[in-house]
Amino acid sequence: MNCAVILLLTSSCCICSSALYVPNRAASKKLKYLLELPVYAEVAGRRGDNVTLPCILKTKPSHYKVKWTKLEPELLGPENIIMISNAHASKSYGRLGTRASLRNAHAMDASLELSHLELEDGGTYRCELVNGIEDESVDITLGIEGVVFPYQSKNGRYKFTFHEAKQACAEQDGTLATFGQLHRAWTDGLDWCNAGWLRDGTVRYPIIYPRPVCGGELLAGIRIYGPKDKDLDQFDAFCFTSQTSGSVFYILGSFSFEQAARACKHQGAELALVGQLYSAWRFQHYDQCDGGWLKDGSVRFPIRKPRERCGGIPEAGVRSFGFPNKMTHLYGAYCYR
Ligand SMILES: *[C@@H]1O[C@H](CO)[C@@H](O)[C@H](O)[C@H]1NC(C)=O
Repeated sequence: MNCAVILLLTSSCCICSSALYVPNRAASKKLKYLLELPVYAEVAGRRGDNVTLPCILKTKPSHYKVKWTKLEPELLGPENIIMISNAHASKSYGRLGTRASLRNAHAMDASLELSHLELEDGGTYRCELVNGIEDESVDITLGIEGVVFPYQSKNGRYKFTFHEAKQACAEQDGTLATFGQLHRAWTDGLDWCNAGWLRDGTVRYPIIYPRPVCGGELLAGIRIYGPKDKDLDQFDAFCFTSQTSGSVFYILGSFSFEQAARACKHQGAELALVGQLYSAWRFQHYDQCDGGWLKDGSVRFPIRKPRERCGGIPEAGVRSFGFPNKMTHLYGAYCYR
């Protein structure tokens, strides 16, 4: 059996969080069986969406299987198989389980459908035609549209180990951001002078305006710290979130934290999580010039149209008052329902 694997990786144009996805042009032999992908081999979706990753056969060999895998550089170990199918049947594997299916729209269709996208579904997927002689494959990048937010412990700056950072993002309806997602956020305007953990275990911070207090007058860009110990070193977190199924609303008031929580309950809601407020800011263009309590005990407000009397910062963003004393009767409530 000839085990030559011909890897044909298509190039990716950058629409979404994969701005730094550099395709391996391993070989540029013409594909015999699979249809070359269009110029941009990228599909984008938000959390909760259904997407199709295209893979179309040009010619069918007499015997073949189609194997879909997710290429996950962060995870060492065996390939991450999602789906194996032949002409008659298909079987799904792994974490995606029943959220993955083959589209089978026509006889030559080997496209993969993913339903109810989750935050960690982003990445590169490979459709491989296996016929034992001339296996070939195409790669497609799935980008989750979303928003990156820096997150700091209520105990202050640089208080999270890697695992605590991961936990903190999950508690705010997010996941640790990937480098690609942070890079995308930086190109969209994120300038942040505190270093945070990323999903790959590196520690970085994005700078647009170089200044002495933020690592000196180096070039603008994403700065990286040297290797860090996931169990000992402590930083902030860069979290990533996307669309939510519910919505965020504000209740005007001069509440303590407890009163704010009760005000939301009265409306059949709960105090919003930080990720939910960022999601509303990003996807619903939520703009509210009033500080309000969130579930983690922080006070924030979302600004889409920057104006002098709303913090005075010229960029859009979610502003933070940090974690005020919970007895302070000064703020309204951001609720999520
Ligand atoms: C997504 O797919 C699931 C099952 O495959 C289906 O039930 C749901 O209606 C689809 N959602 C949308 C928005 O198309």
